[in-house]
Amino acid sequence: MQQVLPMIYLWLKAGHIIFVIFWMAGLFALPRYFVYHQEAAAGSAEETVWLDRERKLLKIILTPSIVVVWVLGLALAQTLNVWGAGWLHVKLLLVLGLSGYHGYLAAYHKKLVRGERTLTGKQLRLLNEVPGVAAAIIVIMVVLRPF
Ligand code: HEM
Repeated sequence: MQQVLPMIYLWLKAGHIIFVIFWMAGLFALPRYFVYHQEAAAGSAEETVWLDRERKLLKIILTPSIVVVWVLGLALAQTLNVWGAGWLHVKLLLVLGLSGYHGYLAAYHKKLVRGERTLTGKQLRLLNEVPGVAAAIIVIMVVLRPF
């Protein structure tokens, strides 16, 4: 039993990092898809292809990944019993922000399905910086544990 618990912790952590990579990859890719999508003419065959790519990215990569990242992240926090740690609070705040960003992208995809294009290509490119900055701070929090 003494050897089993550390092994479970390491497997949880490996799974957590693997799904963090999948989630972040999806969060980086989706706004790029939107940029290319909006370069296609409304109602064109190319637009239909982009809509399908976006739907598949959301369904196959983004939705399962966010669920697994949250479940394994919370399981890790429980295993280590670090609920009172400042670094975890900052991390959780940022992950909540990333989860909101995920929801915003999913909602923007629905707008595109309805034919609404409310953001410009430039705004979408700027939006793409959000997950990178958040991920950098999250990794610093979890590795350096500054407080
Ligand atoms: C969804 C909520 C999340 C919770 C509750 C959570 C919690 C945790 C906990 C408790 C650990 C273990 C720390 C340790 O072993 O020292 C951990 C590890 C880690 N997390 Fe998360 N996490 C979450 C999401 C994320 C996200 C979104 C990222 C990246 C963008 C991330 C990146 C990492 C990394 C890189 C590690 C490994 C750190 C190390 O081995 O030192 N986590 N997480």
